Amino acid sequence: MAKIQVLDEHLANMIAAGEVVERPANIVKECMENSLDAGARTISVEVFEGGITRIVVEDDGEGMDPEDARLAFCRHATSKLRTEDDLFNIGTMGFRGEALASIASVAEVVLQTDDGTTGTRLRYSYGNLVDQEEGRFPKGTRIEISGLFVRTPARFKYLRRPAYEFSIISDIVNKIALSHPDVRIALSHDGRPVFNAAGSGSRQEILYQMYGRDVAASAVAVDEADEDFHITGYVVQPKISRASRHYMFMSVNGRIIRSRQMQDALIDAYADYMPPGRYPIAILDVEVDTQLVDVNVHPNKWEVRISKQPELMELIRETVRKAFDMQLRTVEISTNTIEIPEKKPNRFEEQTRRMAENGDFRSYEQSDESCSSDNRAASGQTVEIHRRGQSFPLHPDQEQIAQKPDMPQTNSPEPKPEAHRQPQLFDRNLHAPMAAASQDLPDTGDRTDLRVSESQTSVSIDYPVPVQPVSREEFHPQAQGKAFFEHLRVIGQLRDSYILCEGPEGLVVIDQHAAQERYHYEQLRERLRHPDGQTQPLMVPVLLKAGDRVLAGLEDINRQLASHGLCFEAFGQNQVIVRELPLWMNDVDAPGFLQDLLDQFAASEIADPAALRKHITATMACHSSIRFNRGLTMEEMNQVIRDLQACSQPYHCPHGRPTVITLSDTRLRREFERG
Ligand SMILES: Nc1ncnc2c1ncn2[C@@H]1O[C@H](COP(=O)(O)OP(=O)(O)O)[C@@H](O)[C@H]1O
Ligand SMILES: [Mg+2]
Repeated sequence: MAKIQVLDEHLANMIAAGEVVERPANIVKECMENSLDAGARTISVEVFEGGITRIVVEDDGEGMDPEDARLAFCRHATSKLRTEDDLFNIGTMGFRGEALASIASVAEVVLQTDDGTTGTRLRYSYGNLVDQEEGRFPKGTRIEISGLFVRTPARFKYLRRPAYEFSIISDIVNKIALSHPDVRIALSHDGRPVFNAAGSGSRQEILYQMYGRDVAASAVAVDEADEDFHITGYVVQPKISRASRHYMFMSVNGRIIRSRQMQDALIDAYADYMPPGRYPIAILDVEVDTQLVDVNVHPNKWEVRISKQPELMELIRETVRKAFDMQLRTVEISTNTIEIPEKKPNRFEEQTRRMAENGDFRSYEQSDESCSSDNRAASGQTVEIHRRGQSFPLHPDQEQIAQKPDMPQTNSPEPKPEAHRQPQLFDRNLHAPMAAASQDLPDTGDRTDLRVSESQTSVSIDYPVPVQPVSREEFHPQAQGKAFFEHLRVIGQLRDSYILCEGPEGLVVIDQHAAQERYHYEQLRERLRHPDGQTQPLMVPVLLKAGDRVLAGLEDINRQLASHGLCFEAFGQNQVIVRELPLWMNDVDAPGFLQDLLDQFAASEIADPAALRKHITATMACHSSIRFNRGLTMEEMNQVIRDLQACSQPYHCPHGRPTVITLSDTRLRREFERG
């Protein structure tokens, strides 16, 4: 008798579910992608206990007619692909036609949908259609998934704590919001609103929600194109960096993706501003002809294959470099701002942050690379002086809302009666038309329920209003360029450490050590790009302490450093000796530099020559710079300024800290209450 059997559909779906529905976050992703494909302008995601007990995704998209609603649950049933050619020209998020079938095979699913003419409600239980009824519902689709993996204990067992599962969901929702900033997206957990994106088209506002004001205000818009690719998004100034790669968000034609190569290109572009081991925050969306992208790499659709990849990587590097060349400016001291309503990370964000920083994302992120959390600038430097008791200049009625998140917001001069108060999630002064439109909605009395306006086909959700705390001007400060330095007049030196100048916009303070570090860094970088390999023997060799790791890795170190003319020899039990030095190290404090180099190797075993070269350069720049506490003559101070002006990136030291800050005339006037 034949041993081979064709699997029945239910079993086949369960197997497919293994790839598509690994955990609640995948379900959220698949459902949200379906909503986007259906043209939704608003998507609400409600999650309970990390999605393990219940997930509800509701949209105001085109909906389905009864027949499609039933077909949607069949394997390989899709409205998005018809012919072989279509497969190489995919502009939708979905195309495999297996998400709903997979989800329904491992959970209880209730789908309610209405295309504006007919409506259907379907109930599936672990692969079986339980009932189907017709009726009228709000236009769009609502899908409710519960009891995930209850019948598949082997899978259930791999679910982690609700907080962990939720952090992954929250991360995905953030990413989708960043890649579709024009769609209103709300996320709640156990009934509590966690995130909402107003759909205003501003990624910067979403960044603000995710990471707070500093990050949003430091985000530089990018928009570059070549013949094939168009890149838009934001790159956050290098003064804010992170300890992991999780903060670089990529999408291709609106599809959130994972791409190590794109991340590497970004890191490379930031390399001149950031020390090794620190990573940027950035959002890049790449628009490209769908024919150049193969999205059919894995059922979970996280990966894409891009033709002309090297060109794209070069464009990414170019985009970031240009953005910083144009946008770099001195950091301005703001003295009167601001007890900023600095967004406090909520519990989940905190947890996500901790997990990311501890590397506890491994199981989730084997291939993923993000997390949603806030975290202060790595350098720990804050250039704002916060004065207590003053709040950030909010719009007057936003201020009220900010203090009392439960208060309804209205743009109407006359307060509306309670029954007509509006769902608040997306109601904001910035989006008055939307707020005004939704004021006509009936109140169902259930404040957390999703409510749909019959007349407008728009879904509104009743959550507190996010405030908009960063002014547009702050988002787009004027770039200063290098001509700035021509107009500086040295006034004197403060504490043998800072050079004080009168500048075009006010008082300019230069950190003499950081400024010289920048200058030497750039000089050395040039020299190291073309090392001549010439060395000079030392009369007195340099002896350095070395631990086991260094001694064991000497060969490796020497190989990496050979082109730079450096060579270490083991000397006794725990020392190494250097007998000659390359000429480029002439101005350098050799023992300090060499010891740093060995320590760095012991800590990270850097084997990447580019990172090592950067490290060498930054370490050397530091060792060859004016010390922080040293009195300078007027001529020396002017020289520091001329040196800075000669730099291609004068406003940050190689570690990303500012070299120059400005206290503007306006600030000074305000401080002295001259209006
Ligand atoms: N939220 C939704 N709104 C409208 N149609 C939907 C929605 N979700 C699913 N569908 C329909 O169900 C089909 C199957 O969905 P799915 O299993 O996710 O496969 P795919 O998205 O790959 O086509 C889709 O092609 C689409 O026609
Ligand atoms: Mg789909």
